[in-house]
Amino acid sequence: MEAIVVEGGKPITGEVHVGGAKNSALKLMAAALLAPGVTTLRNVPDISDVALMAEVLEHLGAHVGRDGHVLTVDATELVSHEAPYDLVARMRASTCVLGALVGRLGRAHVAMPGGCNIGSRKVDMHIHGLEQLGVTVRTEHGYIDASGRAHGANVFLDFPSVGATENLLMASVLADGVTVIDNAAREPEIVDLANMLGEMGAAIEGAGSSVIRVTGVAALSAVEHAVVGDRIEAGTYLMAGAIDSGPVTVTGFDPSHLDIVLQKLEQAGCTLDRGTDRVTVSRTGPLRPVDIQTLPYPGFPTDLQSLFMTLMSIADGGSVITENVFENRFIFADEISRMGADVRIDGHYALIRGVAQLSGAPVAGPDLRGGAALVLAGLVADGRTVVTEIHHIDRGYEGFVDKLRSLGADVRRIELDGLETA
Ligand code: UD1
Repeated sequence: MEAIVVEGGKPITGEVHVGGAKNSALKLMAAALLAPGVTTLRNVPDISDVALMAEVLEHLGAHVGRDGHVLTVDATELVSHEAPYDLVARMRASTCVLGALVGRLGRAHVAMPGGCNIGSRKVDMHIHGLEQLGVTVRTEHGYIDASGRAHGANVFLDFPSVGATENLLMASVLADGVTVIDNAAREPEIVDLANMLGEMGAAIEGAGSSVIRVTGVAALSAVEHAVVGDRIEAGTYLMAGAIDSGPVTVTGFDPSHLDIVLQKLEQAGCTLDRGTDRVTVSRTGPLRPVDIQTLPYPGFPTDLQSLFMTLMSIADGGSVITENVFENRFIFADEISRMGADVRIDGHYALIRGVAQLSGAPVAGPDLRGGAALVLAGLVADGRTVVTEIHHIDRGYEGFVDKLRSLGADVRRIELDGLETA
């Protein structure tokens, strides 16, 4: 068991580069299942979720190779259509093989993901959408069992679910006829997936808008593709620059993917300098209170909500955060409150009264983004913060401690018996 130790008060400044988006890389790996041959993915982050997705693909019969940030998936021959519970339980995103297996094999047997610590995270829209495509879906013994070739159909999603949109995209690219996904998610990771599928030979129009139209093709071929830069990782380091005073420059992503976040940082008193693949954040005055509400893209991303709460916890006044995407994402508030933050939760609203100073404390990362947010809180807290449960952080941030250190932070990983590991 490892922990991250942060000594507060060291100024944060410099430049940091972000890798490929976790939430895209995982889906592109699944999409590789759709074509026989070797798919090459570049800019793949070295994080534990990617390693786990590689295990899922290997279980299905694909061969996964890795050389630095280049990952290959040889899906020439698949030997199984089952994603077993022990793998899905470790990473909910592995359910994205459902659509790819239906597309490639016309069969999928994928464990139902349980709840997780940010909410119940249902899969009803995935299932309903596949049924609309003519696939027979049964849920029994804890598994989603899908069988039958998909055919084109009109599917309306009750909510623009990222995962459901991706599964339906992957199930429909090889279907017979035209599929229209209405109220589709518009995240940049959806566009990245649609781009790669297009390079493989799929006919997709409208990705990035609410209506995606897919004309099924007979076969796809393996391609080489670079994963889009991680806007959430970028947002994390921009928050680090904002919570301290910077300047911090973050490179390797498309700033237009963070439009609303950048606007909110400006409203909070930060100065931003935007380039084509970089943003510099700095601040001279106090942090001003700003309200946000999380929404599907292009709204404020729920994945940056706990990081923004950290920022607001030391703002000069009160702010309200409304969480509209995941019902349990406020469990983070209990941990940051242990560091002296003044946060009250009422349903899906959080009322934050800024305090002058956070105080270092032992805290436990409740989830991936919450863990990162606690480390950021530690940067400006008085004294030492020890963040445990950091396996969550390793799921989605490559070299988190090293990157913060390169910005001047006094942060290190330790074994919980006190032995330093990095
Ligand atoms: C993805 C991202 C996650 C991000 C989220 C929203 C990955 C691996 N994860 O998760 O980081 O926070 O998008 O941007 O890409 N829902 C249902 N029924 C369904 C599907 C979803 O009720 O069939 C609900 C969920 O419980 C949740 C909301 O819809 O409350 C949004 O979920 P969704 O957009 O599907 O998120 P994920 O794809 O799971």
